[in-house]
Formats: sequence, C-alpha cells, structure tokens
Amino acid sequence: MGTTMTRIQSKNGVVNWIEDRLPVFSFLNAHTAGYYAPKNFNLWYYFGSLALLVLVNQIVTGIFLTMNYKPSAAEVAPGVSAAFASVEYIMRDVSWGWLIRYMHSTGASLFFVVVYLHMFRGLMYGSYKKPRELVWILGMLIFLALMAEAFLGYVLPWGNMSFWGAKVIISLFGTIPWIGPSLVEWIMGDYLPADATLNRFFALHVIALPLVLLLLVVLHLAALHEVGSNNPDGVEIKEKKKPDGTPLDGIAFHPYYTVKDIFGTGFFLLIAAFIVFYAPTFGGWFLEHDNFVPANNLATPAHIKPVWYFTPFYAILRMVPSFFGTAIWGVIAMFAAIALLFLMPWLDRGKVKSVRYRGTGYKIGLGLFALSFVLLGAVGAGVSAEMIPKLFGAEADATFIENLFGRFWTVVYFAFFAFLWAYTHFGFEKTKPVPDRVTTHD
Ligand code: HEM
Repeated sequence: MGTTMTRIQSKNGVVNWIEDRLPVFSFLNAHTAGYYAPKNFNLWYYFGSLALLVLVNQIVTGIFLTMNYKPSAAEVAPGVSAAFASVEYIMRDVSWGWLIRYMHSTGASLFFVVVYLHMFRGLMYGSYKKPRELVWILGMLIFLALMAEAFLGYVLPWGNMSFWGAKVIISLFGTIPWIGPSLVEWIMGDYLPADATLNRFFALHVIALPLVLLLLVVLHLAALHEVGSNNPDGVEIKEKKKPDGTPLDGIAFHPYYTVKDIFGTGFFLLIAAFIVFYAPTFGGWFLEHDNFVPANNLATPAHIKPVWYFTPFYAILRMVPSFFGTAIWGVIAMFAAIALLFLMPWLDRGKVKSVRYRGTGYKIGLGLFALSFVLLGAVGAGVSAEMIPKLFGAEADATFIENLFGRFWTVVYFAFFAFLWAYTHFGFEKTKPVPDRVTTHD
C-alpha cells in the first residue's frame, strides 16, 4: 500500500459517529496526509492536479450550459438549427452565458495541453514502467475517453465544422470491410449527420462519457496510490524507509503538495483567465472560424480539419495513402499511433526509468518523437500547406512537398517505438548509474 490508513480520532462527536459507520475521514486522511510522495517533484508534476481541476471545470460549466442548450437540428429560422441558435442565445442573452461557454471551450483545449504535458512527463521519467503499468493503461483509457468526449462536444453547436467534422470522422468507419457502410448509418441514425445524430451525441457527451471519465480517473488515482508516485530521478522511494515505516525520501502529500498544487493552480488560472477574457477563440485554434457558421450540408468548408489537439493523428490519417482501392490503411495507422502508446510498458525493456540516467539513444529518440508529434500537428492543422507557397514560391507542388514532409515525420513517429524496442531489447542502451536516493538539485 502506498498509503497508511489509520483511524481518525476526532474531538467532534459527529465525525466519530460517522467514522464508526463509514470511515470517510480516515479514507481522505489516508490519501492526503497519509500519502507519502517523493520530495523531489518538479514542475512536470503539476499537470495531474491541473487535469483534475480542468475536469471539474468542464463538468460544472457543462451542467450550466446544458440548462440552456437544445440538442435539436430542427430549423428555427431559415438555415439555422435550434442547437446553433441556443448557443447564440447562451452567448448573447443568458446572464454570464458567454463566460460559462468560453470557460468550457477554453477548458477543452487546456485539458489537452495539460494532458499532453502530463503524458510526456510519464514518458520522460518512465512512469509507465513496473509497477505503474496500470496507472499508465488507465491513463491511456482516459485519453481515449477524453478524445471521444471532445469530438462529441464539438458536434453539439451544430456549426458547419461540427457537421462536416462529424461526417468525416464517422465516415472513417465506412472503410471497415463488409460492415463499414451499415456501421456508419447505425452511428449516424440517418444517411447524413442529422437530428438523430445530434441527440445521441448529446446523450453521450453529457452523461455517458463523463461517467466513464470520472470512473477511470478514480481508478487511475487508486492505482497510483497503491504503488506510489514515481519521480524525476525514477528512484523507488519505498525501498528506503524511516523507523516509523514512512519513505526516507517521501513527504506527506498534505500539506506539502497541496500547497505546491495550489500555487500551480493559481498560475494556471491566471493564464486560463487571460485566454477566456482576451482571446477566447485563440485566433481560431480553440474555436474555429468555420464553426460560427450554421451547419449546411450543401456548403463544404474549404479546409475541413479538426481542432488542434487531434491534428497530429489527423495528419497520420491523411499521410498514409490508399492501397488496393481502400483508405483503411490511414485509419489503421491513426489507431496504431494511439495503440502503440498503450504498449509502452512492454515495448521499452530498459531497466532505468528516468531520462536523466538513460542512454543518449533514448534521449534523442524521445526528442524526435515529441518533435514529430508537434510537426504532424502543424501538418494536420494546415500550417504546412500555408507555409509551402511562402517558402517555395506559388508554382511549387504544395501537395507533393507536404506529403514528403508529413510522411517523413509519420515514419519518425512510428520509428520511435520500433527503435525503443530494439534499443532496449538487444541491450544497446548505455545507461548512467542511478543514485540510491533522490537528488533534490538544490
Ligand atoms: C483526466 C485526465 C487525467 C487526470 C485527472 C489525471 C490525474 C493524475 C494525478 C492527479 C496524478 C498524480 C499527480 C501527478 O503525478 O501529476 C497522476 C499521475 C499519473 N498519470 Fe494521470 N491523469 C489524467 C490522465 C492521464 C493520461 C492520459 C496518462 C497517460 C496515458 C496518465 C498517466 C499518469 C501516470 C503514468 C502517472 C504517474 C506519474 C508518476 O508517478 O511519475 N494520466 N494522474
């Protein structure tokens, strides 16, 4: 156990009465003051608590949005659905509605900023390795649920990008042999994204997936507290204990890390507030311009692209060409790009956890992997297509150059996993000695 569950003895009779029947206070104490975390956490360890904060923000603002939002594609004016109109109503007429909506839409993007940094920390410090494989797997399941949740939410305002985004993504299922076309119809409940689609996406977005997310987060933290947190040195602090049985290099989560996390929260809220108040669309990156136009199945937007947090995977989808008359290879590659992350605990056979003491090959590999993710994100978002005429002149074959660039970085993305397996499996990695105790770098 990573926690010590001792019975709370309170001066308050009511607390003791409850404790005798349901030891909630002992439980909370065991997971805060009784949870010992390594004393060398750095900046990268803020993102778990920030992800929790954003999750709460999404749920609370989501509840208030639901009070005025209408999941209906029925027209209330020529070409304008009730759903689109209800979002405009929230923005213009509902008291503080604009704030609630911008908190929710900014929160969605910040959720991914925080989660991507949280995941990168896991990769850097080998937090997916034994004994934390389940913490990682549960994290990856959270990531899948989060992507589904964000996609469904994006469809709800029934803007033109909601409609076309839904059409493109749902149509991907159509590439599955035999059942594809029927599956697409089954998901949409129609031949196009329509009222039935919007209704079921609303149900999934406001209740089904939030429940799944909450459950997964509880399990993620339960699994973490069972084995204890890793740290920037990748040293297992439970191996060296004080006479009282607590880890020598551990400090109580409460008050030490609650205070640290409150500081991180303050800093994060400052940035979040700046975006919500001064740049809520973030130049079209957090709320796309094409989504301020009502859905129209006769007017395809010039560039259909998802919100930034999906663009690395979207680029992989687009960069893999069709073979044998089917586009399924791109879909497979896109899912493989995520599935490989699930396998990290088994692909990486290296004994050393933290990047601080790992071989140069790992450092370069991880660096290139992160770079490929960012550059593929730029390709998926259309940044490269915009840059090519500026860099190579208007006559240049933009598609050819973009494909060359995008395919190169797609190969780098996948090569990271193959390299990591071979590098650690055949003993090529030259690691540095790992210290016995955590280094505080003070
Ligand atoms: C809603 C999303 C998430 C929430 C609320 C969440 C919450 C947390 C919290 C509070 C911690 C402890 C504090 C910290 O280490 O930063 C943690 C640790 C961890 N999380 Fe998450 N997490 C989420 C998503 C993910 C995802 C997507 C992954 C990766 C696939 C992941 C992998 C991990 C790992 C490996 C640890 C242990 C890190 C270590 O001890 O070094 N989490 N998470």
